[in-house]
Amino acid sequence: MSSERSLRTAGIAVSIAFLALAVLSSTDVLPPWIFRAVLFLLGALLWGWLLIRTYRTLQPRQRGWMLFWQYALPLFGSLPLSEWIAPQDATRWERIDARLTAVLAIGLFIAIIYYFIHKNKPNMRKKIVAGNWKMNTLPAEGVELAKGVVAGRGEVCSCVNFIVCPPFTHLAQVAEALKGSDVELGAQNCAAEAKGAYTGEIAASMIAALGCKYVILGHSERRQYYGETSETLNKKMEQVYANGLTPIYCVGENLDEREAGKHFDVVKAQIEEVVYNLSEEQFKNLVIAYEPVWAIGTGKTATAEQAQEIHAYIREVLAAKFGAAAAETAILYGGSCKPSNAAEIFAKEDVDGGLIGGAALKAEDFLAIGKGFAK
Ligand code: PGA
Repeated sequence: MSSERSLRTAGIAVSIAFLALAVLSSTDVLPPWIFRAVLFLLGALLWGWLLIRTYRTLQPRQRGWMLFWQYALPLFGSLPLSEWIAPQDATRWERIDARLTAVLAIGLFIAIIYYFIHKNKPNMRKKIVAGNWKMNTLPAEGVELAKGVVAGRGEVCSCVNFIVCPPFTHLAQVAEALKGSDVELGAQNCAAEAKGAYTGEIAASMIAALGCKYVILGHSERRQYYGETSETLNKKMEQVYANGLTPIYCVGENLDEREAGKHFDVVKAQIEEVVYNLSEEQFKNLVIAYEPVWAIGTGKTATAEQAQEIHAYIREVLAAKFGAAAAETAILYGGSCKPSNAAEIFAKEDVDGGLIGGAALKAEDFLAIGKGFAK
């Protein structure tokens, strides 16, 4: 059962139980205070839920203010309100009851207002649509493709950051084609060493010298076919940062791991083994791409709910080490992302864009994916 459906079923069950409780406690089968107690408990749960949801979408300074209003107003406002609610000759229990009602009413009121104000507000995170061209295109084709992206870029919201990652061989030519536009350049990999006798390798400094701003690291194809381990990736990360580049660090589980329900653990380990070694400064300059291996190039996409679930989890894992800074990290989804499904996936709160393979090879499709972000 999908998590959304089970949530709906649980919601209906709670409401029915609640109504039954209301009836039973007004017919003397149950003492009336039980109904009040459950009412308070549900109110408190709703308050907490709204608070957490809103909190996660706010910037650190806004969070402080929200917490202040959320607690200061119920604290000071509940006294006069409870005096107004409680009868003159109220017993001690009636006073407590009135005070609790006042605290909850004010708290919930503020939480609801905050929730609706921030619900549809776009977060401040970068929105990124990055094209991973993999081992595709000859130099002339790559230049054509890049020119196509530049030409149509104006039709897409300027809030979207487009990045193209061609093969090494035509980075320089594509850089030339992108000149004067805001479409940025990235590479698909880099060497773990700075320079020297490493035949066939390309150093991060060489990539940077060609005008690249980003480097994809830890793509599942590199982990799978070229034996890239966290150890190598730590060294590559070092090189990337030493040369002023931004890594797009890929994480994701394979089909067996997903079916065994291990996807959370896999992704957590991939983050802990590499990202946790970054300094706070480096962490601020990091993009994460969640790419379930079973969805890459297969036409099988994760559902928007599956993407959101694990993106939110990734953000939690990042926050456990880097605190509030994790709210600023762009987390991209990758794996058979195309114009027809991008908007639904990008609409999710913790999805900040996509790392696009196949669909990045046609300028039209790549741009259409960017349109998945509402203007
Ligand atoms: P895909 O590839 O969009 O072709 O599935 C995504 C990626 O591997 O980055």
